[in-house]
Amino acid sequence: MTTTFSDETRARAREIIARYPADRSRSALLPLLHLVQSEEGYVSPAGVEFCAEVLGLNKAQVGAVATFYTMYKRRPTGDFLVSVCTNTMCNVLGGQEVYDTLAEHLGVGHDETTADGKITLEHAECLAACDYGPVMTVNYDFFDNVDPQSALGVVEELRAGGRPMPTRGARLCTLKEMAVQLAGFADEREGAVADGGPGEPTLRGLRLAEQHGISVPGFDPNTPIRSKAEADKVAAEAKAKAEAAKPAPTAAPTTAPTGSAVPSGTPGSAGVGEPAPAERATGSTAPDVKAPDAKSPEIRAAETRQPDAQTAVADAPGTKMPVDGTAPAARDAQKAEAAGTAANAPAGDGKPAGDEAGAQERNLKEAEAGAGTNGAGSAVASETGVQK
Ligand code: FES
Repeated sequence: MTTTFSDETRARAREIIARYPADRSRSALLPLLHLVQSEEGYVSPAGVEFCAEVLGLNKAQVGAVATFYTMYKRRPTGDFLVSVCTNTMCNVLGGQEVYDTLAEHLGVGHDETTADGKITLEHAECLAACDYGPVMTVNYDFFDNVDPQSALGVVEELRAGGRPMPTRGARLCTLKEMAVQLAGFADEREGAVADGGPGEPTLRGLRLAEQHGISVPGFDPNTPIRSKAEADKVAAEAKAKAEAAKPAPTAAPTTAPTGSAVPSGTPGSAGVGEPAPAERATGSTAPDVKAPDAKSPEIRAAETRQPDAQTAVADAPGTKMPVDGTAPAARDAQKAEAAGTAANAPAGDGKPAGDEAGAQERNLKEAEAGAGTNGAGSAVASETGVQK
């Protein structure tokens, strides 16, 4: 090995590997590649050898991964990696013109670095920000809606030693500093991750969901990004609150008098130390966002997508497309979707987890039973008769 990595890098490598189960340590390869890149500015042959050595892999295995992903650089890279999206959407909006202007001004082509070692320019494929096109990133932070002049302004400020503020996200750092973060270590600069916020196009879906009363329990789209210290403090307070709410071991159960009306969500509506019903349902003590009724978000989403509830929905759970190519018969789409929701436990993110084995058949039967009570039974029966 021609390069001796620093003690700090070696300590970080041990920390990364310790994040994974002992028999899965090769999963640490991706962050380790970022780590060696954070020291050398690219993944050198020595970096490949280092990763292979600490993970017990051979160099071919490491090289195969390092050469697959474009974020691992194979040649020394400048302090600032300027990536201009020239994919379809950005291209028609002027992305190629931005790239050509920068290439001419800097005197470099794709994956080349200026003589002062400051800027590396590259074409990028879609940067997943088409709604802000044309976009470019500097060390993976976004500059939205750029044009040749504004892009030139950014690179000139960088070459002059400035740190222009990205349109969204955290403030700029060098590529080596970014590689440390990508290896899984926090950016310690004051306020480094609390700058900026999402743009309105990014939040458009959320705003529409709010308008239509669709919400994820406990989620506030305006939640500020907390620093780690603040997040730790909030977590500690929540833990202390939960501990304080635990019932005393000797506390006797209390029974509300028969017929007493206790408003939901008020003290006494749940057992001592138990969360209120809404909290039990969502697992969260934060207020729901604009929930106009007691329906689950999944049911509300189904009703929003299919408000008339009496037309065929080919992809609703429990719906089978006839094999003879005819259009599916009318069915109660809301009931079919609701049955599918009920049959699939929500995942941790609140979304349906997907059909488990047998769920399609069960959903279909439940939907048929529902359809039989609203006059659509004969149509469903004939459809299933075709399929069987
Ligand atoms: S095409 Fe440029 S971000 Fe998608």
